[in-house]
Amino acid sequence: MTGQDTVAIDNGRPDALMRLSKVHADILRNCARLEQCERKRGTQLAPAAFQEIIDFFDNEVVIHHRIEDEVLFPQLLALHLPVSDMRELRALVAALGEDHRMLDALWRDLRSALVESRPGASGVQLPDIATFAASYRQHLKREDLGILPFARRHLDNAALAAMTQAVEREISTRQP
Ligand SMILES: [Fe+2]
Ligand SMILES: [Fe+2]
Repeated sequence: MTGQDTVAIDNGRPDALMRLSKVHADILRNCARLEQCERKRGTQLAPAAFQEIIDFFDNEVVIHHRIEDEVLFPQLLALHLPVSDMRELRALVAALGEDHRMLDALWRDLRSALVESRPGASGVQLPDIATFAASYRQHLKREDLGILPFARRHLDNAALAAMTQAVEREISTRQP
């Protein structure tokens, strides 16, 4: 049994790190839907599905970035670890924070272009979805292979439980 399984069974619900991983999978899925939309020039995606993708990036992903920036990263930076580990962590957190700002800007541009090119509209070029999707895949890989395993290794049960409560509070407000 892995540590992740233990936490899930002990609490009876997914912990904060599992929740973050789940959103990563959802982001990848929605990036793939956007790419499919681009390949088919938007003709195969129903307006409701199109709106669902826009709502996901407008809401879930904004909240996700906020949780990482304001809950996960500060909690990790407050750990007392060897200097070399903390140096590595600070560099990783700074890079991921920069990624969030870059991805937010990419989404703002993509969103307005998508709204203009929604299914049924004519004469509008679909935006560069490939760049957006590739940037997200790169960012999520860094988190899935870097910060989440680091958090799993170093956060004790009490810290993880506190973070899970903070994440649940953040999600329950649902105010992107
Ligand atoms: Fe993330
Ligand atoms: Fe992130």
